[in-house]
Amino acid sequence: MKTAIIGTGYVGLTTGVALAYLGHEVTCLDVDATKVENLKKGKSPIYEPHLDELLSLASRNLKFTLDADAALRDAEVVFIAVGTPSLPDGNPNLTYLKSAAQSIGEKIASPYVVIVNKSTVPIGSGNWVESIVRDSYRANNPHKNSSFIVASNPEFLREGSALSDMLYADRVVVGADDQKALDVLRKLYQPLLEQTFESPAFLPRPEGFRAVHFLTSDLQSAELIKYAANAFLALKISFINEISELSEKVGADIQHVSRGIGLDSRIGNRFLQAGIGWGGSCFGKDTAALISTGKEYGLSMPITQAARDVNMRQRARMVEILMSELKILKGRKIGILGLSFKPFTDDLRDAPALDIGNRLIERGAKVVGFDPISMERAKKEWADTPIEFAPDAESVFSEADAVLLVTEWPEFKNLSFDRCAKHMKNRLVLDGRGHLEASKLQSAGIQLITLGRSSK
Ligand SMILES: NC(=O)c1ccc[n+]([C@@H]2O[C@H](COP(=O)([O-])OP(=O)(O)OC[C@H]3O[C@@H](n4cnc5c(N)ncnc54)[C@H](O)[C@@H]3O)[C@@H](O)[C@H]2O)c1
Repeated sequence: MKTAIIGTGYVGLTTGVALAYLGHEVTCLDVDATKVENLKKGKSPIYEPHLDELLSLASRNLKFTLDADAALRDAEVVFIAVGTPSLPDGNPNLTYLKSAAQSIGEKIASPYVVIVNKSTVPIGSGNWVESIVRDSYRANNPHKNSSFIVASNPEFLREGSALSDMLYADRVVVGADDQKALDVLRKLYQPLLEQTFESPAFLPRPEGFRAVHFLTSDLQSAELIKYAANAFLALKISFINEISELSEKVGADIQHVSRGIGLDSRIGNRFLQAGIGWGGSCFGKDTAALISTGKEYGLSMPITQAARDVNMRQRARMVEILMSELKILKGRKIGILGLSFKPFTDDLRDAPALDIGNRLIERGAKVVGFDPISMERAKKEWADTPIEFAPDAESVFSEADAVLLVTEWPEFKNLSFDRCAKHMKNRLVLDGRGHLEASKLQSAGIQLITLGRSSK
């Protein structure tokens, strides 16, 4: 099918590459000229495992352009995957969505077009997008006769495993108030739903994985499914973090507690890793938007609010623990291992490392960070904070009064802690992800404090 994708960020690019790999003719449209130039040369603007390889395998069916007309003129399906970042009041900024909808109305020309909202948008946005497209279509095409329908197809991929989440999804959710649109999207996703495509060698199909559930609903339900899913995941993390603080107090080990409850199949063991909490572009923004939607309808959402509060407290706790260990933070050098909001991505949006780093700097400390993938990006995006950058992970320990592990990149596990310890001013490591092996640090003479474990 002739498919256009508006926005080639984490979601749009992953979707475009995957659909092209499945055999559709895909044109990806963006307003960022550098991104489009790089993509035309086969270079991904983001770090995502195997994305470069899949880009190259799918390149036959894939085009990148800045030209809305070229992307939209023949499209039968148009995905909107532009950003919807938070505004200060918690509502998402819908400027990009509006401008994408206007371009669609201006340029579409196929007889029947399904416009698919993949961006995470407030409930009711499907209708809003439809009215913008209609106004723009009427104003720009008085003599044309296309019909179109807006559907919602929320995205559930996780950065760091985006391609495999897309190709081997738990489910595809599609909401629309028109059966024909649902049928078009079922057809578009058919190779994925029935798993009839040949797996790329570097992304093998999980054993026993045979089909993807296709869930259809009305527009609003699909829009709400996305927010409800993210809020639930966020609160699962915050719940275990709340229990983790109690664990420290009563002398329990959160990793045992977490395993003990996660083995209950009604609870499940995923998203129960205690630590600093979530970051990234979605959970914070989407929980804020859900609360804000509730407010519009006179409904408070105390559970979602509590999940947000606990998450913020975890970041503050890292600083409090350091203060209680070091007493004075002024003039101290604190190292930070890991800057991206989670491993296997270069995404720095709402990264706990930045928040914690700034809290330490406000208290007079000098902060030096390192990340295996996102350093260049951090130097650009964090140019206005005084966080310094170390050339490698070991240098973070040099002259440090303490080192915080903020992102659980696997290589941090295998550092030579004996060597690191020799260069530390004060041998203290605070593990915010329960990632490091205590015995390795202890044998290097480093005091290790892990969130959720009592100090004994
Ligand atoms: N990142 C994730 O893990 C994730 C997961 C699920 C859902 N989502 C949702 O998907 C949406 C996109 O997120 P993202 O992380 O991919 O964002 P992103 O910021 O990485 O990408 C957005 C892209 O859209 C482009 N853009 C903006 N306005 C445009 C326009 N008018 N025409 C063409 N291109 C335009 C930008 O240049 C950018 O390249 C958001 O609503 C987000 O909440 C994100």
